Amino acid sequence: MVVFSSRLLFSFLCNILLITISISQVSAANTTQDYQYFCDFTNRGNYTANSTYHTNLNTLLSTLISNTEIDYGFYNFTNGENTDKVYAIGLCRGDVKPEECRSCLNGSRANLTQLCPNRKEAIGWYENEKCMLRYSDRSIFSLMETGPAYYAHNTINATDLDQFNRSLSSLLRDLKSQAASGDSRLKYGVGNISIPDDKVIYGLVQCTPDLSGSDCDDCLAQSIERIPIDCCKDSKGGRVVRPSCSMRFETSYHFYGPTAYTPPPSTSTTSEGSNTITIAIAVAVPVFVVVAVLIFICIYFRARKPGKKYKTQQQEEHDDDEIDISESLQFSFNTIREATDNFSDSNKLGQGGFGAVYKGRLSNGQEIAVKRLSADSRQGDTEFKNEVLLVAKLQHRNLVRLLGFCLEGREKLLVYEFVPNKSLDYFVFNQTNRAQLNWETRYKIIGGTARGILYLHQDSRLRIIHRDLKASNILLDEEMNPKISDFGLAKLFVVDQTHGDTNRIVGTYGYMAPEYAMHGQFSEKSDVFSFGVLVLEIVSGQRNSGISHGENIEDLLSFAWRNWREGTPRNIVDPTLNNSFQNEIMRCIHIGLLCVQENVSARPTMASVVLVLNSHSLTLPVPLAPAFYVDSRTGNLPDMHLWEFNSRTTGSSEYTSINEASITEPYPR
Ligand SMILES: *[C@@H]1O[C@H](CO)[C@@H](O)[C@H](O)[C@H]1NC(C)=O
Ligand SMILES: *[C@@H]1O[C@H](CO)[C@@H](O)[C@H](O)[C@H]1NC(C)=O
Repeated sequence: MVVFSSRLLFSFLCNILLITISISQVSAANTTQDYQYFCDFTNRGNYTANSTYHTNLNTLLSTLISNTEIDYGFYNFTNGENTDKVYAIGLCRGDVKPEECRSCLNGSRANLTQLCPNRKEAIGWYENEKCMLRYSDRSIFSLMETGPAYYAHNTINATDLDQFNRSLSSLLRDLKSQAASGDSRLKYGVGNISIPDDKVIYGLVQCTPDLSGSDCDDCLAQSIERIPIDCCKDSKGGRVVRPSCSMRFETSYHFYGPTAYTPPPSTSTTSEGSNTITIAIAVAVPVFVVVAVLIFICIYFRARKPGKKYKTQQQEEHDDDEIDISESLQFSFNTIREATDNFSDSNKLGQGGFGAVYKGRLSNGQEIAVKRLSADSRQGDTEFKNEVLLVAKLQHRNLVRLLGFCLEGREKLLVYEFVPNKSLDYFVFNQTNRAQLNWETRYKIIGGTARGILYLHQDSRLRIIHRDLKASNILLDEEMNPKISDFGLAKLFVVDQTHGDTNRIVGTYGYMAPEYAMHGQFSEKSDVFSFGVLVLEIVSGQRNSGISHGENIEDLLSFAWRNWREGTPRNIVDPTLNNSFQNEIMRCIHIGLLCVQENVSARPTMASVVLVLNSHSLTLPVPLAPAFYVDSRTGNLPDMHLWEFNSRTTGSSEYTSINEASITEPYPR
């Protein structure tokens, strides 16, 4: 490994390394040093020494810690038969490399069997949750278990608590969906958020990857709920650790390293696939490995004196905290009437097929946008309420948040957070306003929109296909962060949504994927198509519906493809963008073209898109002609009439595009 020529040098390097990372060096509390454990927590009883069970357990744990094939830090093994069958799970934190993982589990095994002598069931977390080891005589795989749990909090309080708590919950919400969308090898999310005074909150969440996405989401949601209650109210750091999931945050302490395992992006393979997407993952930088190993060695030698910053409470815990959210989401009609000044015209933001939209201000000062649904939404009150509650659970920083609803007599209102800026189309398609969108802003909008769609597609409770993504449905906040609007509305309206029913196709001309427009087949990939159109629009500042240069009218996709193929991609780029960030811009065009491939399976998933946007080192497949491509030499226009179904967009004011073209289909999983 690494050999140092003198102890002095070693010590010196360690000091430097540790100074940088030990700003709040923590150590879990009381049970034994750096080890949390529970024995026999579901009354499975004892085994006799040297019994078959005992032998099986020993063999199993030896097998587990000596497995060198698994590189994603999750081991679920069994050994034995019938009543002597033993189940074991080993899980390492997502930033722990395989070798380190094995050694952590090895240490944990020695501790656990010693601390829980002859117990059939035990669980322990070792070295600040670097690894978790558990075993039992009952099946513990794919089972969400929230107890026994332990909590820890940093005894130093955060400052500027309002801001801190808002940022923290937004961070953890994002990480939660990041983890829940992981695959069966890794469900893990890390990230940071900046707070005032140049501080940063770092967060980490992880589930055992054998959980379903929704169980992972639930488990973490329950953990996050404990923060203000009994974990770590107002603390600058805290942890909630459970058998199925764990969560930790720290202020100004970057406590995790680079993720040790990168799952290959889910590739869409429908079997006819000659065009399946393969994205090569770049290999981790060796320097980082060396640094991580060094830090590990240093910590290992230093961390013998546990600090006292953490207090730990242990408790068995069961789910008893259902909150009746329907109460808190319901607004009275009077409240809304007052907030919107009796739905005055001056507060009207727009009019769509589903009803008018008003701006309002609640008595507490909060600004809202209210959709007053027209009376022909014939849905029953209970269904309406249920759907609203489902949609209200979708919370992501790139989605316009549904705050609640109002249901009184014939009135049905939806109350949204008010997003101050106008929608994206107001900026990107307007010669003057476009100047406000430099490339960094556009890139941020592309990335945020991608993450918002990914959340809709992969959120654990609902799978939502938006079905009407377009520039006018992307609202922008003060900082030009994108927020997707009009998702999840489908079930609020009685529309026959039989899949193959092309008469009912809704969506917007120019954004609809061909298989959807022609055959009514929609899937996540139809949203990917719309996203691709959006990306090309953002890069070019042109609407997809037609670019005129001289005599020719060409749709944006054909135009982009032609220039890409002919090696003149610079022609696609909005001339108001200056010459910097060429690589990023070209990559976005590339991604855009991949998203609008005619072949559904050749389009990437949103997960791949997000991955590729975040990592410039991933190589992208070569795009083929997009769905609308028309040979420019023949000058044929695409068969536009095929695409024009029921497309009633209503201008560019921020909330106006709420017509029947704005239907989303939430599916239960
Ligand atoms: C926060 O996370 C981003 C990646 O999401 C990273 O690029 C950035 O360096 C992190 N910031 C800090 C202060 O660690
Ligand atoms: C172990 O976990 C993997 C990945 O989560 C899963 O595919 C496999 O079915 C599990 N094995 C058992 C025995 O449950």
